[in-house]
Amino acid sequence: MNRVLEPEVMDKHENVQAYAHADFSTVNQMFVDRLVKHYSSYLNKVLDIGCGPADIPIRLVRALPKTHVTAVDASKNMIESAKAAVKKANFDNQISLVQAYLPGLPFELHSFDGIISNSILHHLPEPILFWKEIMKLGKSGAVVCVMDLLRPDSPQRAKEIVEANAKDEHPLLKEDFYNSLLAAFTLGEVKEQLKSSGLQKLKAEIISDRHWLVSGNLR
Ligand SMILES: C[S@@+](CC[C@H](N)C(=O)[O-])C[C@H]1O[C@@H](n2cnc3c(N)ncnc32)[C@H](O)[C@@H]1O
Repeated sequence: MNRVLEPEVMDKHENVQAYAHADFSTVNQMFVDRLVKHYSSYLNKVLDIGCGPADIPIRLVRALPKTHVTAVDASKNMIESAKAAVKKANFDNQISLVQAYLPGLPFELHSFDGIISNSILHHLPEPILFWKEIMKLGKSGAVVCVMDLLRPDSPQRAKEIVEANAKDEHPLLKEDFYNSLLAAFTLGEVKEQLKSSGLQKLKAEIISDRHWLVSGNLR
């Protein structure tokens, strides 16, 4: 099945609300647990690209109280939702929220010890720009941990994945999830992107029926 692009920035109020209220706790906690288990000593100054409602930054600073996360998203409504969640969790000192668009994020070159990201890549028409941005913003030896959806073989399989994992979620969330699966990359495509960007040393693996993970250190 070929990739079918979906809208890039998630800024419609109803979709943002549906996303912010959906339950991603299992997957998000798994992502944070892996980070903490393998890379906690690197995670002082972390950038989260496409942070959405900031559930992952909140889980990360809860686990690592000395970590500071700069969490960035192009969507004004997502950043508003993230601000409310960060304030509620009382992590204003450890999480800075920035509304900005990739490519061209407004940060000093090579200034982050860790760059994390979940589920933005499938939104991007030009995925190489994402990997190049990581190379620009990460320090030498910085940790990279990027997770996203895996494109299934068929629209029918995408429907099955939505029903198996989001049966009781809001219809808008289910529709976005389905469209995201169709827009996602295969592991082979991700490996090609890493190779073209000079990041082939990072490990790319499938970690669930619907996710791949890229992790490792920059040179
Ligand atoms: C599916 S959400 C993932 C949110 C969050 N990382 C999570 O784990 O739940 C993808 C986010 O990426 C943002 N996004 C898409 N394209 C972007 C771009 N070019 N620059 C910055 N943010 C972008 C969207 O606005 C959306 O909030």
